[in-house]
Amino acid sequence: MARRKKIYEGKAKILYEGPEPGTLVQYFKDDATAFNAEKHDVIEGKGVLNNRLSEFFMSGLNAIGVPTHFIKRLNMREQLIRQVEIIPLEVVVRNTAAGSMSKRLGIEEGTPLPRPIVEFYFKDDALGDPMVTEEHIIAFGWASQQDLDDMVALSLRVNDFLSGVMMAVGIKLVDFKIEIGRIWDGDFMRLVVADEISPDSCRLWDVKTGQHLDKDVFRRDLGSLTDAYSEVARRLGVLPSNVTHASKPTLIN
Ligand code: TMP
Repeated sequence: MARRKKIYEGKAKILYEGPEPGTLVQYFKDDATAFNAEKHDVIEGKGVLNNRLSEFFMSGLNAIGVPTHFIKRLNMREQLIRQVEIIPLEVVVRNTAAGSMSKRLGIEEGTPLPRPIVEFYFKDDALGDPMVTEEHIIAFGWASQQDLDDMVALSLRVNDFLSGVMMAVGIKLVDFKIEIGRIWDGDFMRLVVADEISPDSCRLWDVKTGQHLDKDVFRRDLGSLTDAYSEVARRLGVLPSNVTHASKPTLIN
């Protein structure tokens, strides 16, 4: 393939210039990091699984009218996306207490929350992505009050969609993180779901056994991450074709 201009490289993905203005190619790496990259490993096949899973969730959201940056998948590791101006916030929605909320507030993991709780974290690796309030966001100009209202509404629609999709395959959506970007149409701006939605950025527990099917498997050394992500992909019917065995062996003369 011709050399492409690299726009940005993050911990798990690379962004390249796209074929047309306003587009980018998002490449999914096999790298897994946790605790602000203190823990790092390369897990063969993770990028392929996350590319497929993010395609599945983002195209489902597009189909129900929740706008995302996703245009189409290009190959095993790459997808074509709309270029957006990323809002420097991680938006976390929680349905069940776990992770940092359990630690911060002393609530036992697995405790159902009375309603979905939306939290914001400022995207800054050097600071370890600190939690911020709407007051900080508005005072520092990261987003307006209108943006914030729209971000909460968007996140809750994503939560309802993902919760339903996962529950249908026996998985509880405990919490997830999304990133949101701005797309400009002349003077008109709209917010879209960006980055990725995958088991890297969600907590997914098997409804019957409570088994972790997400990046906590890596963070907490609970076993094979690819087995966990493959299980999610298998249940959703989105395993890459080279790992399904749908076709019969053919005799080669
Ligand atoms: P937390 O409980 O560690 O705050 O994580 C909440 C959710 O956000 C969980 O589904 C994992 C996801 N997450 C990310 O996607 N990236 C991150 O850097 C962190 C800390 C969490």
